[in-house]
Amino acid sequence: MSLLSKGSLQNLGYDVKQELHGGGYDDGYMAVPCLWGTQPGSLVQEVLSTGNFGSSTKVLDLGCGEGKNSAAFARAGCEVDAVDCSLPAITNGRNAFADAQIRWFNQDVLDFVCGRERYDVVICYGLFHCLRAASSIESIIARVQDATRKGGLNIVCAFNDRSHDLSAHPGFCPTLLPHTWYVSRYARWSLSHASDSDLHEAHPHNGIPHHHSLTRIIARKP
Ligand SMILES: C[S@@+](CC[C@H](N)C(=O)[O-])C[C@H]1O[C@@H](n2cnc3c(N)ncnc32)[C@H](O)[C@@H]1O
Repeated sequence: MSLLSKGSLQNLGYDVKQELHGGGYDDGYMAVPCLWGTQPGSLVQEVLSTGNFGSSTKVLDLGCGEGKNSAAFARAGCEVDAVDCSLPAITNGRNAFADAQIRWFNQDVLDFVCGRERYDVVICYGLFHCLRAASSIESIIARVQDATRKGGLNIVCAFNDRSHDLSAHPGFCPTLLPHTWYVSRYARWSLSHASDSDLHEAHPHNGIPHHHSLTRIIARKP
């Protein structure tokens, strides 16, 4: 066994989750040209199908990955800021969505200044469970809500605390909070979608079938 195995690092008191900062998706990003595919997520499709978006719409995509959701809004004419701590993700995204006008930020969301009432839509698709503490999730949700204009939308997709098979994500320890906790963050907002469902999938770089429990929310700021 290598001196730098996960077990030996843990024995030395090293925080192994730190090694997988961002959720440990970099192996996947480096193995395939587009880990998450080119189609936007189902909630983004649902929102875009209303057709109410154009050049005056400002969108923020936190934990954008390769930018499949950013690209969909950018192609609808919106001004899009996309933030991810993974350079391989952003490199893939720049190649996969070269036609889409996206402002990329290779930054930790905890360091990103969202501003006040600056965005019409904020997307957090697969981000929250990657953060290392519930307190970070709580603080980013508060920041995201503050950054959203009145009448604007938050689009959220996150692992919740029900069942997961993490065999396809070795070493990843997601922060899992109840579905009801996420919904309660939006108690004063108007929810057009709030679901808790199972996702069965396999990622293209390792092909391992597995499942997650997912909270999905579309919320409008009063
Ligand atoms: C499950 S992926 C989803 C990517 C993309 N939103 C999508 O739906 O295709 C989660 C993304 O969040 C990013 N991420 C995790 N923690 C982050 C952090 N603290 N700051 C910025 N990005 C982060 C990861 O690098 C990864 O690209």
